[in-house]
Amino acid sequence: MSAATDQPVADALEPQRSYDRQDWASAFGNVDVELDDVPLTAVRGEIPSALNGTLYRNGPGRLERGGQWVHHPFDGDGMVVALRFAQGQLHLRNRFVRTEGWLAEEEAGRVLYRGVFGTQKPGGPVANAFDVRLKNIANTHVVRLGDTLLALWEASSPHALDPDTLETRGLSLMDGVLKPGEAFSAHPRFDPGHHGEPRMVTFGVKTGPRSTVRLMEFATEGPRAGQLLSQRSDSFKGFAFLHDFAITPNWAIFLQNAVDFNPLPFVLGQKGAAQCLRSRQGGQAQFWLVPREGGAFAGQPPRLIDAPDGFVFHHLNAYEEGDQVVVESIFYADFPSIGPDEDFRAIDFELIPEGLLERCRIDFNSGSVTSERLSERCCEFAMVNPHNEGLPARYGWMAAAEREQGNDPLQVIKKLDLRTGERWIWSAAPRGFVSEPVMVPMEGGAEDDGWVLTLIWNGARRGTDLVILRASDLSEQAVVELPLAIPYGLHGSWASA
Ligand SMILES: [Fe+2]
Repeated sequence: MSAATDQPVADALEPQRSYDRQDWASAFGNVDVELDDVPLTAVRGEIPSALNGTLYRNGPGRLERGGQWVHHPFDGDGMVVALRFAQGQLHLRNRFVRTEGWLAEEEAGRVLYRGVFGTQKPGGPVANAFDVRLKNIANTHVVRLGDTLLALWEASSPHALDPDTLETRGLSLMDGVLKPGEAFSAHPRFDPGHHGEPRMVTFGVKTGPRSTVRLMEFATEGPRAGQLLSQRSDSFKGFAFLHDFAITPNWAIFLQNAVDFNPLPFVLGQKGAAQCLRSRQGGQAQFWLVPREGGAFAGQPPRLIDAPDGFVFHHLNAYEEGDQVVVESIFYADFPSIGPDEDFRAIDFELIPEGLLERCRIDFNSGSVTSERLSERCCEFAMVNPHNEGLPARYGWMAAAEREQGNDPLQVIKKLDLRTGERWIWSAAPRGFVSEPVMVPMEGGAEDDGWVLTLIWNGARRGTDLVILRASDLSEQAVVELPLAIPYGLHGSWASA
């Protein structure tokens, strides 16, 4: 493991595989313990004493039950880890989210629900047909809002947890803002103060032949934390698949991928709902620019603008330049899906399109869009300094592949200068696999002052490590071996002390 300025690979035509498949696949398993306030020390380096707060991570923690494996890790039950930093001390706690589905399946000792990504109940299509219940698995993201921790899953309501004990308080309707079961995105964006006080901006999508996007803004600080400040709803033609979005002071930006949804195989018990999504051949993706309340275009209808081809789950950031909205996103050539007859542990990375960071400049008056590739290296899970959310940012931090081109598991943390293309790399290869990096800024520091925290699957010891890097040059500050073996996670966040 080392930090170095990224050097081009000499012979990109004959890439050496940077990992062992057994190491990669060994991350898939069940988390079988829940730990309380376990003190941890670094096996290398020192935990920075200026780092005070909690890193929360969410992701699938249960992938097998009663001998049956999930069809896709995204169907695994949400398990939240809290790593609490205080003056160089570190404590760990982890808890499964007590969802209705998790409690019922714990009791039964077998799979009782279908999963969106293809997990079926035992008994084949006959046993699954016409069971269109959703199991809210609360596994996608975890964010702190006031005195509540929200475990998010985009197709239904959030679960509220105690931010200290991680005890599940229950489903949250956000103080009556949501109807029971209403969709609530797992990708809130935290406006650092574009209109005065900071806000959490998020959305929910009601899909159908016409889809409705509900945009909501919540207060995040003081006694009003969690209170709804503004909302609007807009309907759009077609089935909307929106996992993430981006914000600027004036706009909420959605990228509607050109996909179709045919629910029949789902209803008939043959496929999971997400396996019924397909890229629409010759279809046209669109940017939906929804004016934010309190911005210069408040109250106006959304602007619909044709977008480049490709499929996007995640955006890095967006900002405004005059009449242009600039949005930086991770594009795939096609919608990546694991079919009913495929085993997720045996996927061939060569056959799956890689995620590539691109910048689109949208002129919201003329409707023109230009795009440029920011890097040829496969990446995912990118973020800017939270103070620059929605504003021009010089740097992005992301998970990326070890080699310069082609699709591979994520093994490095990369810092990219979004202006010059200069990059810095910290690598966990050959035996380590990275997850989403969380950039924690140093208060009062420069844009790239602070730390980058990430959980690593350590294939050598078949366990999870916490790695702390200096954000500016990705030099390794500390490595902590966690007393847990956590499957590849999804999203997490930092809450300052
Ligand atoms: Fe996501």
